Order: sequence, then C-alpha cells, then structure tokens
Amino acid sequence: MKVQYFTACTMDGFIADENNSLDWLFEAPHSEGDTFWDEWFPGVGGLVMGATTYEWYVGRYGLGPEQWREFYGDRPGWIFSHREPALIPGVDLTLVEGDVRPVHAEAAEACGDKDLWLVGGGDLVGQFYDAGLLDELIIQFAPVTLGGGAPVLPRRITSKNLAFRDASLLGQRLRVRLDVVRTESN
Ligand SMILES: NC(=O)c1ccc[n+]([C@@H]2O[C@H](COP(=O)([O-])OP(=O)(O)OC[C@H]3O[C@@H](n4cnc5c(N)ncnc54)[C@H](OP(=O)(O)O)[C@@H]3O)[C@@H](O)[C@H]2O)c1
Repeated sequence: MKVQYFTACTMDGFIADENNSLDWLFEAPHSEGDTFWDEWFPGVGGLVMGATTYEWYVGRYGLGPEQWREFYGDRPGWIFSHREPALIPGVDLTLVEGDVRPVHAEAAEACGDKDLWLVGGGDLVGQFYDAGLLDELIIQFAPVTLGGGAPVLPRRITSKNLAFRDASLLGQRLRVRLDVVRTESN
C-alpha cells in the first residue's frame, strides 16, 4: 500500500481559505478531458481525513450514506479527531486519534494492494511524513493566491526528501506528482 496525499492547492500553498472554503477552487476551470481521477481512484482502497476536512465535506454536501457511497464507494475511512464528530451512519468510518502508525497498519490490512488516500489537512499529512509513512504527493495547483488559510504541508521537507516525478497542465489546473524519498532521517 502506498500512502498518497492528493489535494488541490493555491499557488501560495493553501488548501482552503481562512473560513475553510474551497470556493476559489471552483473558479478555476478543469479540463473536461482529464481522465486522471477515473484512472487513479479505482486504485484507492481507503481514505484518511482530519476532522475539519470531514466536517467540511459533510456540511457542504449535507452528506448522507448514499452520497458518501456515490463519492467514495464502500472504501473504509479513518477520521482523526480528539472529539466525537457525528459519523455518517451505515458507512465504514472509524474515529481515531493520536499516533498515525496504528491507523496506517489497520489501513494497510484493509487496503490490501490498493493505496491509502490522505485527503488532508496538511498537518495530518505531516504526521504521516514524520512517521516515515508518506510515499507520494499529487498536488493540483490552481492559478490562485489567497495570502492565508490552511497550509498544504506545514513541514520543512527539502529536495533530499522530495522529488518531482511529472507534471501536466489540464485546463487551469497544474497537476504535479512528487515522490517522498526515504533517507535515514525519515
Ligand atoms: N484543497 C483541497 O483539495 C482540500 C483537501 C482536503 C482538505 N481541504 C480543506 O483544508 C482544510 C484543512 O483543515 P485543517 O488544516 O484544519 O486540517 P484537518 O486535518 O482537516 O483537521 C484538523 C483536525 O484534525 C484532527 N486531528 C489531526 N491530527 C490528529 C491526531 N493525530 N489525533 C486526533 N485528531 C487529529 C483535529 O481535530 P479535533 O479538533 O476534532 O481534535 C484537528 O483539529 C479544511 O477546510 C478542508 O476542507 C482542502
């Protein structure tokens, strides 16, 4: 199982504005011919989200079990929180907290040969990086700056640990894939 952080991002490195809004993202036209999602998503075996991301999705789309399944199928999800946010009934979601390593181990068992999608936010992804458990970044930049908001990956990771693999421009989204390079320090 690979651990992949797939997210959209502004040119100045934010994944949401200060009000947790993604309205800026929907302004940037996506190429209709982009088949990436259809090719990538079947390889995803499970999802991980922080509580803000989860509550934003549920709140924005008023997600019930049918819509969740429409979006994510029957993939298991792990929601990180120190609280007890209401979980969508009838969906395979688990509330977790603290160390990401046991969650990674559980996900590896559940995902089999599929990959784990870290939906966000940035610090939670950073926790996977800190534990040496982050493999890949897939970042879709929009031609937007916000000047503030939720950071994409609030860690100092330099080029010895991160390498570009490829990039493609699709409409007004620039998708960049990077590999995390393991060294003794991570
Ligand atoms: N651009 C995109 O494609 C994209 C993708 C994903 C997310 N987003 C947006 O980006 C924003 C991200 O928000 P965010 O930075 O606040 O991050 P977040 O990871 O979504 O939420 C942070 C919360 O996750 C919980 N958490 C994180 N690590 C934990 C741990 N180890 N143990 C227990 N709980 C933990 C805590 O919740 P509690 O406070 O409940 O303890 C923490 O306050 C959201 O608005 C989201 O909608 C955008």
